Amino acid sequence: MKVLVTLLLLLFPMVFVAQQNTILPHPVVFKSMPGYIELDRSLSMDFSSLSSTIIQQLKTTGAYYHNLQLIDRTNKPLVIFKKLVNVPLDSYSINVNKQIIISYSSPKACYFAFHSLMQLIKSDDKGHLIINNCFVDDYPKYQWRGMHLDVARHFFQLDEIKQFLDVMAAYKFTTFHWHLTDDQGWRIEIKKYPKLTEIGAWRDSTVENHYTTSPRTYKVERYGGFYTQEQIKEIVQYAAQRNITVVPEIEMPGHARAALAAYPNYSCTGIQQEVPGLWGIFDDIFCSKEESILFLQDILSEIIPLFPSKYIHIGGDEAPKTRWKECNQCQAIMKENKLKDEHELQSYFIQRMDKFLVEKGKKLIGWDEILEGGLSPNAAVMSWRGFEGGIEAAKLGHEVVMSPGSHCYFDHYQGKGNEEPLAIGGYTNLEKVFDFNPVSPKMSREEANYVLGGQANLWTEYIPSFNQLTYMAFPRAIALSEALWCTEKTTYDAFEKTLIDSHFPLLKNKGINFSSSILKPSITFKRAVNGINVKLSSKSKEERFTLKEGSDHETEVNFTGSKEIEINRTNNSNQVQYEFVSLETGLQSKLKINNNPCLGVIVNYVTKPSDRYNSGDLTLVDGQFGARPWKGHEWIGFDTSVVIIEIDLLKKQKIDSLQISFLKDENSWIHLPYAIEYKNLKTNLGFGMAQSENFENEKQVLFIGKKVQKFRITIKTLDKIPLRMPGEGTQPWLFIDEISIKNK
Ligand code: ACM
Ligand code: ZN
Repeated sequence: MKVLVTLLLLLFPMVFVAQQNTILPHPVVFKSMPGYIELDRSLSMDFSSLSSTIIQQLKTTGAYYHNLQLIDRTNKPLVIFKKLVNVPLDSYSINVNKQIIISYSSPKACYFAFHSLMQLIKSDDKGHLIINNCFVDDYPKYQWRGMHLDVARHFFQLDEIKQFLDVMAAYKFTTFHWHLTDDQGWRIEIKKYPKLTEIGAWRDSTVENHYTTSPRTYKVERYGGFYTQEQIKEIVQYAAQRNITVVPEIEMPGHARAALAAYPNYSCTGIQQEVPGLWGIFDDIFCSKEESILFLQDILSEIIPLFPSKYIHIGGDEAPKTRWKECNQCQAIMKENKLKDEHELQSYFIQRMDKFLVEKGKKLIGWDEILEGGLSPNAAVMSWRGFEGGIEAAKLGHEVVMSPGSHCYFDHYQGKGNEEPLAIGGYTNLEKVFDFNPVSPKMSREEANYVLGGQANLWTEYIPSFNQLTYMAFPRAIALSEALWCTEKTTYDAFEKTLIDSHFPLLKNKGINFSSSILKPSITFKRAVNGINVKLSSKSKEERFTLKEGSDHETEVNFTGSKEIEINRTNNSNQVQYEFVSLETGLQSKLKINNNPCLGVIVNYVTKPSDRYNSGDLTLVDGQFGARPWKGHEWIGFDTSVVIIEIDLLKKQKIDSLQISFLKDENSWIHLPYAIEYKNLKTNLGFGMAQSENFENEKQVLFIGKKVQKFRITIKTLDKIPLRMPGEGTQPWLFIDEISIKNK
């Protein structure tokens, strides 16, 4: 036996352990090979075939990753470059084997290849830089791989924008959509109209907390800023050096309050109003009269020379037609042009901009509302209210960038814990972004050809600082890049592993604040015989967690991997708080359980919840109230005007009162009910509560005072949202979480 082992060792002096890919987005082909190259802090390269622009780009990239100095050497260089022909657009390959050969089809491809090469470099135990031998072959799937940034709601400094572009470049993004104007601030110098920045770039106050919080409070402090045209040029050039195109957005006809604060004559009423410090949608928009159109075209005339981008974004979203309906000048234009409604007037307005931009050699892109009233002949559509707008535009033969709220809104929450910073609402976790596919299965192959790619949007109402901005952006932007680059996606688990092992350290090294929400122990609930079962699972096998039960019950439990705890329902209501702390990373997840006789009981949905907001019947009785601002996953949502739910408490028992918690967020079309009925299913006796009572409260309490096992609640909502409210005329949503019992 001993002889055999020795023989084997002689035959195979080293067992080859294949190295995992460390490049994100994942390359099309990655082959690990035995052996490695050790580097010092410099790389010798044969630059002789490269342009000075590329050489500069590569030097910047080397400095970004490892403080690597690139040295031009034609005699025995470590890295050589070769040109590829007849390959997919922006293809490159890397061959690491004693020497490093980078083959590329375009200057962009050369740049992408170098980022990949830098991501292959590892530090060994002694701090030496090494590259394992390997072969990489790669090319992108979509050309528009975009990130948007709203600098109107909160302003970001030039060096912050540059840092953001640096990280975008590392993940091979091509497009930076710069949202430069909105109600709360105008952020770009326009020489012909100086008041746009003298007045429009500044607001006197900013709403605090979530804007649905009542009563609203404001931080009274002058806030704002803007970029001079010189600074804009600096950013455009900085981005270009990283192969990123900057697409400017000048919002029209809506989201115009900052501009109208400076030049009220271009509104319908002419009334002077301040730059608002509140978020939302405002009725005052640009008037469609000729003067306003010429004013905006003047602005575009200054924008166009600053941005080499083929596309100019003109917004077009969320423009209420309230003022246009009441404006003599708008109505006269409708009459003159035989327009049947204000949507057609919006279409007329956009067509004027389309024609203007085409004459200047540019192409208009706008949010999907520009489809309403008829899509302008040359317009490209950015689809944000789902995929539908993009599908419709593609069917009409127009270019599309997909940016649906469901996958691409990085102002949504990304983690479930209460520790997440305040966000606008919604829940878009890393896996959801990874799963994004900009081509809808509803599209034909021909329609799919109109999809340029996809983009994530960073609206900054709730993002006041650069640290928080990068927290919301990363790592989700890396998952987006994976979704848009990879022809064949790997599994989510493989992506997550590469991200955690190789890219979290990289981001940390660069001092980029990013979210590690995926590392937090995840908490899942199951129904148990006498209550609920709570399971904590950790991503990393090695971690230990400490579990604190409430403040007086400090049972500390150390465990590895996952742990289940059973919580038995109590006869009275009481709140227990659990805190899971990872001893290794210090990350915490907190959980509050409102224990009560309903915990884990049987819920029968006689009315089926909407598929969009249905996380299962346990959600209503899991001891946790849906949080505010709401995240998509923790509420049960109905889109019918009558909702019937039956509860079986599993044993007959005296109940003092029943509490049902609803969500009110009328801006999201979520309304409170106007009536609730209760019925004991054994005796058929019950009672109702209706309009006359106070239905302004999100928590409704029904006093029962009887013994009961099975009961039914019937909840009634309006069947149409009242006029002049967001979503007027459509069925409002009813959101519930949760149902609980209070006994004295
Ligand atoms: C948007 O989110 N209003 C485009
Ligand atoms: Zn008007």
